[in-house]
Amino acid sequence: MIHSIAIALHVLSATLWVGGMFFAYQILRPVAAAELEAPQRLRLWASVFSRFFPCVWLFVLLLPVTGYWLIFRLYGGMSNVGLSVHLMQGLGWLMILIYMHLFFAPFRRLKEAVITEQWQDAARRLNQIRQIVAINLSLGLIVIAIATGGRLYAG
Ligand code: HEM
Repeated sequence: MIHSIAIALHVLSATLWVGGMFFAYQILRPVAAAELEAPQRLRLWASVFSRFFPCVWLFVLLLPVTGYWLIFRLYGGMSNVGLSVHLMQGLGWLMILIYMHLFFAPFRRLKEAVITEQWQDAARRLNQIRQIVAINLSLGLIVIAIATGGRLYAG
């Protein structure tokens, strides 16, 4: 039962984190760019991230906790899991570190720039965030493909 809860929380965290990045990057970003002037658009993004990132903190906590729970409690250690789990673990930590950088550097500065109405600086920070989200979204899609397809491929 507890293992079922762990894998469910794990996959839900992955789905919501990567799905949220997909929505922000592919759907909201082009619409906001087409419809809104710079100050409004930058305020929108500061507010959107302020609501999304507390959820992401929960996901980046749940993913390793539930992942290692499964590795050590269900499978009996790292030596008993396949290559797809090793790759997921490595790329997963990379995604988490990239997210932390995004949160503590460009996002903090974006918020400050929006509060003080430094629109040029805010636009520069948003552009950095866009590039970082593009990287993490790509990694997230690759990790999900490896986690699901890789498991079957390895037999
Ligand atoms: C951070 C460290 C991580 C660890 C230690 C970890 C570990 C695991 C383990 C042990 C499983 C069960 C594998 C199985 O039963 O065959 C699993 C499944 C899965 N993980 Fe992770 N994971 C991590 C990060 C991530 C990330 C970042 C994502 C996606 C963004 C992700 C997506 C998935 C998915 C979709 C599955 C389900 C695979 C399936 O059942 O077919 N994991 N993970």
